[in-house]
Amino acid sequence: MSQNNHSPAEVDLDTGAVTERLLDAFAKTFNRSDVAMVVRAPGRVNLIGDHTDYNEGFVLPSTIDRDVFVALAPRSDERARISSLNFDDAIDYSLDDGPGRSSASWRNYVTGAVHELYRRDQLDCGFDMLIYGNVPLGAGLSSSAALEISVLFGLTELFEIGLEPIECIRIGQRVEHEYAGVQCGIMDQFTSRLGKSGHALYLDCRTLEYDHVPLPLAEAGLALLIVDSKVSRELANSEYGRRRSECDEAVRILKDGDDSIDSLRDVTIELAAHLPDGLEDLLKNRVRHVVEENDRVRRAREALRAEEYEEFGEHMYRSHESLRDLYEVSTPELDFLVAETQDLEGVLGARMTGGGFGGCTVNLVELDALDDLSEQIERLYIKEFDLEPEIYALTENHRTEVVYSD
Ligand code: GLA
Repeated sequence: MSQNNHSPAEVDLDTGAVTERLLDAFAKTFNRSDVAMVVRAPGRVNLIGDHTDYNEGFVLPSTIDRDVFVALAPRSDERARISSLNFDDAIDYSLDDGPGRSSASWRNYVTGAVHELYRRDQLDCGFDMLIYGNVPLGAGLSSSAALEISVLFGLTELFEIGLEPIECIRIGQRVEHEYAGVQCGIMDQFTSRLGKSGHALYLDCRTLEYDHVPLPLAEAGLALLIVDSKVSRELANSEYGRRRSECDEAVRILKDGDDSIDSLRDVTIELAAHLPDGLEDLLKNRVRHVVEENDRVRRAREALRAEEYEEFGEHMYRSHESLRDLYEVSTPELDFLVAETQDLEGVLGARMTGGGFGGCTVNLVELDALDDLSEQIERLYIKEFDLEPEIYALTENHRTEVVYSD
């Protein structure tokens, strides 16, 4: 989820400029100019399929065009010197001592990832590392997944560790669970590590089989408009845990009647329409959301493959309604942002995205209407809530990669 609620003071989006800046700052920070490598890992936006990943269901996210960058050089001793440009903060410790826990969450994500590699005997030498990210923090665009993956990928490339992407993803998820106390599913790390430019990522969260579905935004005359409602996601962690327990409880009850049900993934659309009375209404709603959302993700994938973007947009609207009414993870601000788009020219679909309780909506829009739409949405939102939204327009998306090597 999020690193914390600060925003980077200065946001640089040009990869070349960010790399230059990192090389320069690396020399100043560590008093050496022999950077071996710069890598980046992107944040993500989920197009459809929320609260399905931890129910072994389906998701269809995309990476975004913002990343966490990591510059690295090996050391001849066992020290890890790690510095963050965003937080103007640094850590220096010996790998075998371990870093200890910190009250600064960015540190725990980074040292957690480093320690997980060390524990697996995959790091036998220290390094200097400088980090800069331009993924908005605390907005629900997975800045923390981008941070974990950039650190893991960077070290893997630097030391030629040969870590399979899936292992990298699992370690990233473990860092959230063990070092940040966030019981997230696997979608965010998976997308950051294996998302691909010009494509969305369809993922079966049970088998981990995946598929890159073409999403040629600009070419198709489309764009994604991400609107940050700027509402604090304070409830996100506790309510997220509550939803997970509700799903577990529903599985326990349903398994009594049919022991082939191991997760909500196994509940059919037919059963979801006729759930047993043993399940209280609230749990029925949670189950219906998950089962129908899984179905929508599969239909949305087909629509995307067929370039039926209007149909894709319809699935987005239905998904929002379900997250609002059945899963109850939306907010009045997110509902407003989605509802208003229904009267605006050039919007094909809109929904809240990610865990909910604040954060962003994602809108599939016509490229021609992009500027007008940004202005109108901003104006309407300020008028209603006296709060300025942050709007990000996207016509391309990134993948995890090396952007510089010496
Ligand atoms: C958060 C979690 C993900 C996923 C979404 C909801 O982003 O990190 O694993 O569960 O919420 O779809």
